[in-house]
Amino acid sequence: MTNDKHTISRKHLQSRIDKIARSQIAHLPTPLEFCPRLTEELGGPQIWMKRDDCTGLALGGNKTRQLEFILADYIYLAGANITPAGLALGAKALGRKTKVIGITPIHWDEDRSTDIARIASATAERLGLDVTFSPEEIHNEDGYVGERYGVMTPECRQAMKLVAQTEGIILDPVYSSKAMAGLIDHIHCKRIGENETVVFLHTGGTPALFAYAEDLQLAAGEAL
Ligand SMILES: Cc1ncc(COP(=O)(O)O)c(C=O)c1O
Repeated sequence: MTNDKHTISRKHLQSRIDKIARSQIAHLPTPLEFCPRLTEELGGPQIWMKRDDCTGLALGGNKTRQLEFILADYIYLAGANITPAGLALGAKALGRKTKVIGITPIHWDEDRSTDIARIASATAERLGLDVTFSPEEIHNEDGYVGERYGVMTPECRQAMKLVAQTEGIILDPVYSSKAMAGLIDHIHCKRIGENETVVFLHTGGTPALFAYAEDLQLAAGEAL
């Protein structure tokens, strides 16, 4: 443990996670890449991308991380919103000031922050960590969904095109392109300062590209 009784060192956190049964199927660690051309194009913060679209197995994606625990016959956590819960927990347990901003692609009937906080607190308990979460600590935005889940917006098409053109990285049409549309908007409206650093988590979803072939042809033809 570190000096602050509520935080833990990275090494200790890893050792607690390592105690949980797990099938090692993902290609880890996934790359953390600096995106110099995207950073320059947007003229804002330094943008890095965590490439969880490169976890291997059937075109990659964040689900492989969850499956490592489920396949080990240990249902780690059920339900959605696992990724933002895990990130919020990691940041708080390690005592980092990093702000975790979730951009949801779904209009939920009820506020997801309560559920994400519950998952993060339950995971902390499972790992024997002295941290809990309230919904107010979770930042989850639904302002970039557009019409509804799974329907591309003009902004997410443009985000996909921009990232493909500048970095040669293909976002997916349902999740990461809407998250990138959110990040671009936050940069444009100066919610994120020029001197800050952002890590964009690319959660995968690449197989969806095939189902969106028509939409993507349209995106390729649209001017930025
Ligand atoms: C590509 C992609 N990204 C993100 C998510 C959301 O994952 P989670 O429920 O872990 O937040 C999903 C869930 O299906 C997904 O397919």
